[in-house]
Amino acid sequence: MEETIPSREECLSLMSKCGMLENIVSHSMEVAKVALFIAVELKKKGRAIDLALVEAASLLHDLTKTECLKTKEDHAQTASRQLKRMGYERVGEVVAQHIRLVKEGDPSRVSEAEIVNYADKRVMHDRIVPLEERFRDLKARYGLNQKAMDYLEQLQKEIYGIENKIFFILQIDPNEIQRPLWRGAEDLRK
Ligand SMILES: [Fe+2]
Repeated sequence: MEETIPSREECLSLMSKCGMLENIVSHSMEVAKVALFIAVELKKKGRAIDLALVEAASLLHDLTKTECLKTKEDHAQTASRQLKRMGYERVGEVVAQHIRLVKEGDPSRVSEAEIVNYADKRVMHDRIVPLEERFRDLKARYGLNQKAMDYLEQLQKEIYGIENKIFFILQIDPNEIQRPLWRGAEDLRK
């Protein structure tokens, strides 16, 4: 059976059905833009990337975050389970890894999960920022004890590895994607 990936319209309608907070929706849209930009640029460099998967997973990565703010569940896992139940297996796999990647990445390849994970770390609320700024904010909000802080430090180290891998291929500076000049997601898909 061919894998189903929801279209942009299906993602947006799912997001509105799930009652996501407005700011989480804006965050997700911005993450999708960053992720697609990176995915398209990697494709131009001859890398095999599934653009539809990148877009759907970035739009849906925080699908259940709103309810998890109350239930305290792990929103990467609950969203992943919900998407898999709907038949979106690969999207669910990528969403499950948006906070933390499950396995050591392949140094010769950038995966869709790495792109979405990285893009999420570059968007603070709905603003594109350097990794450093995003982690400063994450540490201030979630680094409440030494264990949490160590975890964030580890995440930060891993994500810098991904950043290096991506931008070594793209041959641009990571901060280039902060410029307001680049095109919207719709154009990038063409
Ligand atoms: Fe999230």
